[in-house]
Amino acid sequence: MSEKKLRLGFIGAGGIAQAQMKIVKAYPDVELVAACDINDPSLAKAKADYGFPAVYTDWKEMLRRESFDAVSVCTPNGGHCAHTVGALQAGAHVLVEKPLAMNAKEGEAMLAAAKKAKRKLVIGFQWRFEPKAQFIRKMSEAGQFGNILFGRCKALRRRGIPNWGVFGRKDLQGGGPLIDIGVHIMEVTHYVMGSPKPVSASGQIFQYLGNKKSDVASMWPNWDHKTYTVEDLAVGQIRFENGAVMHVESSFAAHCKDEFNFSIMGEKGGADFDPISIHTDENGYMVDKSPAFIPSQDCFARKLRLFVDTALYGKPTEAPGEAGLMIQKMLDGIYESAAKGREVPIR
Ligand SMILES: NC(=O)c1ccc[n+]([C@@H]2O[C@H](COP(=O)([O-])OP(=O)(O)OC[C@H]3O[C@@H](n4cnc5c(N)ncnc54)[C@H](O)[C@@H]3O)[C@@H](O)[C@H]2O)c1
Repeated sequence: MSEKKLRLGFIGAGGIAQAQMKIVKAYPDVELVAACDINDPSLAKAKADYGFPAVYTDWKEMLRRESFDAVSVCTPNGGHCAHTVGALQAGAHVLVEKPLAMNAKEGEAMLAAAKKAKRKLVIGFQWRFEPKAQFIRKMSEAGQFGNILFGRCKALRRRGIPNWGVFGRKDLQGGGPLIDIGVHIMEVTHYVMGSPKPVSASGQIFQYLGNKKSDVASMWPNWDHKTYTVEDLAVGQIRFENGAVMHVESSFAAHCKDEFNFSIMGEKGGADFDPISIHTDENGYMVDKSPAFIPSQDCFARKLRLFVDTALYGKPTEAPGEAGLMIQKMLDGIYESAAKGREVPIR
């Protein structure tokens, strides 16, 4: 490996930023330069645990004073656009945590800023790097499923409304479970389907639990129900240009079992993500099969390694900002359809 080091900064030093810091601190080719957060305890922890030589409470000041090769944007969704555009304009490549932004309009501004600054914009999708997802994608590329007709994906929590951060605030997050956790399972399902172009969306969102005080025992009790303005449950359907369809279900609170899974169905075969299984016909029989061994790999760490490889060594990314924008348009479409009560086009 060369002597080069990626001079890396962070905007936002909360939960996911610290998960990233823990991993990249161990990389010999990364130098942690500075971090910024408006919350002093987060900043103090980042400094104490990861040894940032400089910390800031104002991201603009940090970008003015420091010089970065790359910046990781780990603020709530409402900050993604401004912080990403600011970092790109300051000459840094950017990894922005999922979702790309609050909406596709912001996402388009971010992609335009990356193009203008001639810098890379990588979306922090990790599930596409999960080994079982990679296996399904490889089987798909090898033609095992034929044309993929349908994808069904679920990111369902029975009672999992975050009791930290601003995940219940529509004004700061853009939405609830659909944009927060649905985005994960949508990105990987869409990826294994071959990333077809979305053309229309329909969906519905429901709020019935999160905005009320609850005494039901749950994993994360006592969330802030007074500021809860997002959906509890979202369901949606996306139609693609190639005729395929994807269904999504996502909840913070729903009367169902917890589930994070997807299935795909094609003309020649299909697959389930977890437990991994391929469904096909062979020699006159219907056959289910699964790989005998899949190497384990932390997909979150993988996305960070790949970002460093892209930003420092110019390697191509499997998670370009454009992939984030395509998913964002689907999210926007489902929310718009829910508001209008009809299917809407995606442009
Ligand atoms: N990839 C994943 O698996 C994953 C998991 C969790 C969260 N996320 C994403 O990461 C982002 C952050 O989520 P989190 O769980 O870390 O939330 P968090 O609330 O733990 O952290 C967000 C931090 O951003 C800080 N912040 C807010 N406004 C700021 C500003 N203007 N300047 C600087 N700092 C500011 C907050 O003080 C907070 O410390 C969200 O977009 C979320 O969707 C991704």
